[in-house]
This record gives sequence, C-alpha cells and structure tokens, in this order.
Amino acid sequence: MTEAELYSEYKGVYVPKLLHPPESLKFLEEFTFRHDDIIVVTYPKSGTTWMQEIVPLIQSEGDLTPVVSIPNWDRMPWLEEHRSIVLNLDQRPSPRMFASHFHYSMMPESYFRAKPKVIYVMRSPKDVFTSSFHYYGMASYLVNPGTTDEFLEKFLNGKVMFGSWFDHVKGWLNAEDKDRVMYISYEEMILDLNDSVSRIACFMGKSLSEEVTKKIADHCTFKNMKQNKMSNYSLVPEEFMDQKKSEFLRKGITGDWKNLFTEAQIEKFDAVYEEKMKGVNFKFLWD
Ligand code: A3P
Repeated sequence: MTEAELYSEYKGVYVPKLLHPPESLKFLEEFTFRHDDIIVVTYPKSGTTWMQEIVPLIQSEGDLTPVVSIPNWDRMPWLEEHRSIVLNLDQRPSPRMFASHFHYSMMPESYFRAKPKVIYVMRSPKDVFTSSFHYYGMASYLVNPGTTDEFLEKFLNGKVMFGSWFDHVKGWLNAEDKDRVMYISYEEMILDLNDSVSRIACFMGKSLSEEVTKKIADHCTFKNMKQNKMSNYSLVPEEFMDQKKSEFLRKGITGDWKNLFTEAQIEKFDAVYEEKMKGVNFKFLWD
C-alpha cells in the first residue's frame, strides 16, 4: 500500500492513520499536561520501548510488577496514539509517564505552559535507518520500504512516519527550558546501562540504592527484555506486526548499519548528514 493510503499528514509530517486517527491527534492537542509528568520523546526506532521499561522501573524503585503485568503501550502510552483516548490518563496519579514521537514544534499549547519533564532519546541516524528498514518490512500499518536505496531516499527526505530525523533531533536540541529536558543517547545506554539508569533516576528526582539501580539495569538488558511478553510485542497480532519477518527487539546493538549500507549509500548519507547538521553544537557519541 502507498503513503496516501496508510498515512495522513499532520503538522507537516506523515503519521500512520491506523494508530493516529484524527480523534487521537485532537486528544493530544487538548491534553492537559502536569508539571511533574515525565515524557519520553523519541524519533521512532531510537529506544522508546527500552525507556518504557526503564522509567517505570525507576518510578517503582525496582518493583517489577508494572513491567511484567502491563503492556508497554498502556504502561507508558504514546499521547498521540488512539489508545490514549480510552486510558483515562487524567485519572492517573502523579508523576504520570508517557511517550511521544512528536517533534518539538508539534507539541500542544499545554506542554509549553506546564513544562513537564522530557527524556529525549537519540540514536545514530544510520542505526535508526537500519532498524526502521527492518521494521517497515514487518509492520503492515507502514509502507513497505522497498529497496535500501528507495527507503534511503524517503528517510533522508523525511517521507517516512514522523518526518525527518534531522528536524526531529534539531528541534528538540533547541528546546527552551533545557533544565526540563534530559538528552540521552541509545549509544550511552549500550555503553553503560547502569550509569544511564542512575542518571535518569537523578533527573526523575528518585534516589536509588546501588542494588536497585543494578537490578533495573539487569532487567533492562536486551536479552532479558526480549523475554518479557509485556514489552516484546508478542501480544500484537501477526497481521499487524509479523515478527517472523523481523523481530521487534531485533538486534539491540550499535553499528548494525555497517551490515546494510553500501559504500555509495554511506557517502550519500554522510553528505546529507553534514549539510543538515551544519551548525548543530552537540557532541553526539556516534560522530
Ligand atoms: P534494532 O532494530 O536495531 O534491534 P523503538 O522502541 O524506539 O521502536 O526502538 C526499537 C529499537 O530499540 C530496536 O533496535 C530494538 O531492538 C532496540 N531495543 C529495545 N530494547 C532494547 C534493549 N533493552 N537493549 C538494546 N536495544 C533495545
């Protein structure tokens, strides 16, 4: 199926119609944030599911109950997704925990008034591309990626769900009220998960013992999360996500792009990256 059939355009970016019907986008437009809400914001395939495991475990101080009994999409729902409408989010006790793939410029008015805490997770765009390429091939609500060349063209031009990776990252890096935003990368989490958990806890205002921090980091390794049916998307019907084609928790590594890109594709990607990221003053771990 084509982009016109599967996506609608919202605030200048493609959003999959099935997950984001007009009512759910309106729901977020009218949503009332609280100052103590915690929102994990990501460009898709940057580590959202990983954070949907880590953040609730920090909040529960290592009690595994929420992550082994509630699917990640209800535990830390995407505010722009259709499920949010039925979850009575306004009844949830503070601090509420949410996810979003919105660009900074797409956030609704209440966000800028309430100034909730944001954990913004970034990942090397070549690995985001690689993860997306496999994911678009198995998720029926997305347009089939075609060849790597075809998908690269779309990805670099932002003609994919949630638009351009470059705009997403640049927008959030330029957010006002930076003391309310924690920037963390997938690569940092891979390098030292224990330290990442500890820093996220600190941002959330939680003081965890070394033992609890370690327990959370151990539970959130790729191997362990893959076993958790509340987080590995095995509850999703096969006609929606065919994990026989590619698992949702696929490889969980950095640098897998090296197994996908040709020399010509690397050159093209690097040229666009250099052009689009000119003037961005941030030390990315993948550079
Ligand atoms: P790969 O496809 O490269 O394996 P999102 O949740 O934003 O859609 O991101 C999905 C990516 O995060 C997938 O990447 C997935 O395997 C990876 N991921 C999820 N949980 C992880 C974990 N505990 N450790 C490492 N990577 C993880």
